[in-house]
Amino acid sequence: MSIALHVEDSGNGTPVVWIHGFPLSSLIFEQQRTIPGVRHIAPDLPGFGRSENRPIDSIDEYGDVIISLLQSLNVERAILAGVSMGGYVVFSIVRRRPALAAGLVLIDTRECSDSVEGRMNRQAQLERVEREGTSGVIADMIPKMLTEDTILENDDRLDIVRRSMEAASVPGVTSALRAMAERPDSSDVLRDFERPILVVVGSHDTITPPDDARRMAALAKRATVVEIAGAAHLSNVERANEVNEAIADFISELT
Ligand code: MLT
Repeated sequence: MSIALHVEDSGNGTPVVWIHGFPLSSLIFEQQRTIPGVRHIAPDLPGFGRSENRPIDSIDEYGDVIISLLQSLNVERAILAGVSMGGYVVFSIVRRRPALAAGLVLIDTRECSDSVEGRMNRQAQLERVEREGTSGVIADMIPKMLTEDTILENDDRLDIVRRSMEAASVPGVTSALRAMAERPDSSDVLRDFERPILVVVGSHDTITPPDDARRMAALAKRATVVEIAGAAHLSNVERANEVNEAIADFISELT
């Protein structure tokens, strides 16, 4: 089944696939797409941003969408970079197609599956979205995405987060909630992966806190953690300069 995906594809150099989190879009990587020497491939997952809205049943299905996209672009190997839910998609791709990954950039994400309580929260969110649309979930998530200081500054960063969330469709959001609730633990993927991994985390991230980042790095063979001061869950949006510097260094050491 082919899905009409919106993909931002720009620049020349080492391919990096940027996979966004929930309930966001490729817009959150606007500032990363300035990193030089890189071919930036930033799709909107189905049901998010400007991509077609198709029901998706699992994180593996999002992974399949990215694998097909890379095939259609004739990209045989890329650095896979995922933010939060995008990280879950990265794990799914690496579990099934490790040769596709030249290295990983894991931003504000975690390898573990949902706890029982986490699954119950997803179910409650899902019912709320089906009842009243996405606005309530968006309003609740914004204070977790960025620090209070950044929200008060009310600049482009808040605008990027708002605009990308507002583009999410109801079926896109409910599909992702179901898929995230059912995702497997990916510790095995981290343990088995032979190539370098950069783990980036906002020091104020409460969804996937710095302890999650350190645990992931400890599981992996070749991982480095960079903690970004003054950032919450979307460190790449909130503190783009620091995050871009860490990613640019990682890419130059890898290539
Ligand atoms: C995300 O930012 O993608 C989500 O917060 C991840 C999650 O809810 O597990």
